[in-house]
Amino acid sequence: MSTILDGKKISEMRLEILKEEIEDSGLYPRLATVIVGSDPASQMYVRMKHRACEGVGIGSVGVELPADTTTQGVLDAVNRLNRDPDINGILVQLPLPKGVDSERVIAAVSPDKDVDGYHPENMGLLFSGKPRFTSCTPTGIMTLLFEYKIPVAGVRAVVVGRSIDVGRPMSALLTNADATVTLCHSKTRNLNEEIRRADILVSAIGKAHFIQPEMVKPGAVVIDVGINQLNGKLVGDVDFAAVKDIASAITPVPGGVGPMTIATLMENTFRAAKERSCDSAL
Ligand SMILES: NC(=O)c1ccc[n+]([C@@H]2O[C@H](COP(=O)([O-])OP(=O)(O)OC[C@H]3O[C@@H](n4cnc5c(N)ncnc54)[C@H](OP(=O)(O)O)[C@@H]3O)[C@@H](O)[C@H]2O)c1
Repeated sequence: MSTILDGKKISEMRLEILKEEIEDSGLYPRLATVIVGSDPASQMYVRMKHRACEGVGIGSVGVELPADTTTQGVLDAVNRLNRDPDINGILVQLPLPKGVDSERVIAAVSPDKDVDGYHPENMGLLFSGKPRFTSCTPTGIMTLLFEYKIPVAGVRAVVVGRSIDVGRPMSALLTNADATVTLCHSKTRNLNEEIRRADILVSAIGKAHFIQPEMVKPGAVVIDVGINQLNGKLVGDVDFAAVKDIASAITPVPGGVGPMTIATLMENTFRAAKERSCDSAL
């Protein structure tokens, strides 16, 4: 019987601690979200982030732009938030509509307000082993491993998926924590063999029930980032029911990685506020 890595419980515990820290700090951190268009999933994620802010005493401001906003229009909104001294963190909800140059928008967010950790400067710091703000989903996964006292140093970790928001930063965080990391993607040869070597397996590909029990090393720790619809139900990349008896520990979907992502966003925003208050005290 494997341990269920309960991201919901751990995130609630960490948010409770964060709420007290914010109260004690005397600071009023503020997060701004930018959403372009009316994609229902993006709107739901943004609402969840605002709700989380409210729960811990972080102010939140939502900037909503129509779907036909140009790249320049989004850049103007981001620059206004960069200049606003009352805003500590800026989150641009991805994906942006096709006509908007996401890379330019991400690079326009001031690195010291980049609580999503996507700015090239913050990515560079992460990959050079000196992280500042790091992407919320992989950072939340590292926190989950830490909270469950799962050893990372020296183990073989396999990350499936190389996106800029999950797979790549995940591989860097695991490397920084002294794991031996293999980063797999759609062109990986002998993918099943690579996956089966994992002591820690992180799947971030977005394909329902892709990871089957015969692909998992007995006793592996299995982290499921995927969010997929299957027969009207929300499921991960991992066939949870079939894999849970092989893994030593596994995240459920929902209730695993997702809540940790939001908790990390709150922690990053408070950190940005603390760093700003230190800077302005100099
Ligand atoms: N829980 C959360 O908080 C959270 C946060 C972010 C994302 N997600 C979910 O995580 C999943 C991945 O998100 P993402 O943004 O990383 O997705 P993405 O940008 O679409 O990247 C998917 C990655 O998976 C790889 N891939 C796709 N099919 C594959 C296959 N058959 N074998 C091996 N690799 C394959 C792709 O390889 P190539 O690079 O070769 O194309 C790509 O690197 C989605 O379900 C998303 O909804 C969850």
